[in-house]
Amino acid sequence: MTVRLEPEEEAILAGAEGPAARKALEIVLTLGRIYGAERLVPVASVQVAGVSYRNLGDAGLEFLRDWAEQGARVRVPTTLNPAGMDLDAWGEMGIPEAFARRQGEVIAAYVRMGIAPTCTCTPYLVGNVPAYGEHIAWSESSAVCYANAVLGARTNREGGPSALAAAVCGRTAAYGLHLEEGRRATHRIRVTCPVREPWEYAALGFWVGGRVGGGVPYFEGLDLPPVTAASVAGEPALSSPTHDALKLMGAALASSGAVGLYHVAGCTPEARIRNDLLPPGVQEVVVDSLEPAVAALNASVETIDLVVIGCPHASLGEVRAVAERLRGRRLAADLWLTVARGVRERAVAEGLVETIEAAGGRVVADGCVVVAPMRDLPYRTLATNSAKMASYALPHAGLRVRFGPLEACIEAGIRGRWETVVH
Ligand code: F3S
Repeated sequence: MTVRLEPEEEAILAGAEGPAARKALEIVLTLGRIYGAERLVPVASVQVAGVSYRNLGDAGLEFLRDWAEQGARVRVPTTLNPAGMDLDAWGEMGIPEAFARRQGEVIAAYVRMGIAPTCTCTPYLVGNVPAYGEHIAWSESSAVCYANAVLGARTNREGGPSALAAAVCGRTAAYGLHLEEGRRATHRIRVTCPVREPWEYAALGFWVGGRVGGGVPYFEGLDLPPVTAASVAGEPALSSPTHDALKLMGAALASSGAVGLYHVAGCTPEARIRNDLLPPGVQEVVVDSLEPAVAALNASVETIDLVVIGCPHASLGEVRAVAERLRGRRLAADLWLTVARGVRERAVAEGLVETIEAAGGRVVADGCVVVAPMRDLPYRTLATNSAKMASYALPHAGLRVRFGPLEACIEAGIRGRWETVVH
């Protein structure tokens, strides 16, 4: 299959816009050939993974410096995935200085390429809200799920280098989730048990992701209101339980499986607009209990060292909920509430950070436990309401996990012990 190029793309390939743009386009084109794309499409925004120095190491840092040195500059709005620390308050987190220095050098290389040092897995909560049908190239898997499913934008699950290449040449290859046919369901998921709270949506996503792999699940039986254009932008999305539930479910689908898009009947925009999403004979999965998922996500630990809320990064509504439960109380365990820096600023203005810090908790901007140097810190166990965090914490951070409702996590932080949730 030949990828058809526009004259401007031919010119970039011929080197008219410098060696970095040519190299970037070659990467995008190579991926297009591998996946059978017929053309490239301009992207409206890019989100780049591969930010934590813990994952990149010196080789990754050198790669980024090389690109910056060769003149690579992004041509569309581009943000970053979380780093391995709060870029301002890393010392208070106990992050070793040597790590912090290298992490700073990674961010500096990206900034040199014109990328905003907005380090978050929820760019859509801090102003980057792609429009319905818009092509983008995002790489954080939970953000990919949210952008495709909740916003109706179009992106594949990009890798860090392919997203960076898309940012530098302003294009991506049109295959997979960029195409109408790639967005049809591969599985009909009939949910017959009650699913009410965000953590239960996370458990559901974890279970279904393990069943559908890289497919596109179409959920039926979920009691969620329609997502509308008005509800995805600005204030409403910052404090909507529906959006929080979809955020947690998508992150879980993308971590136990390789899901990049899901649909919810009557709720997500494409499921409400298109009537061709469920091809005949599509495979059916019935979910009649969340018990197996909840059991799989819980280790038998009682003592809790650290509570982590905000995977994906918390909305302002989630920050408010945590602050409300901590008001006037004192934590026995540490608590990290991870957020985008813009959300932290809003939380400071509302007095929420002060409340959480008064209880002994921390509102961590820019960072993520999974990519932080956790093995250098004194934590061994963790409580979380995120199924993604629950499934990644042991392999990526060496932490044994309790998973359950937000309230149970906060109470575990107050007592320093987990009380089993009867579900
Ligand atoms: Fe975000 Fe880290 Fe969770 S990148 S989705 S907080 S694992």
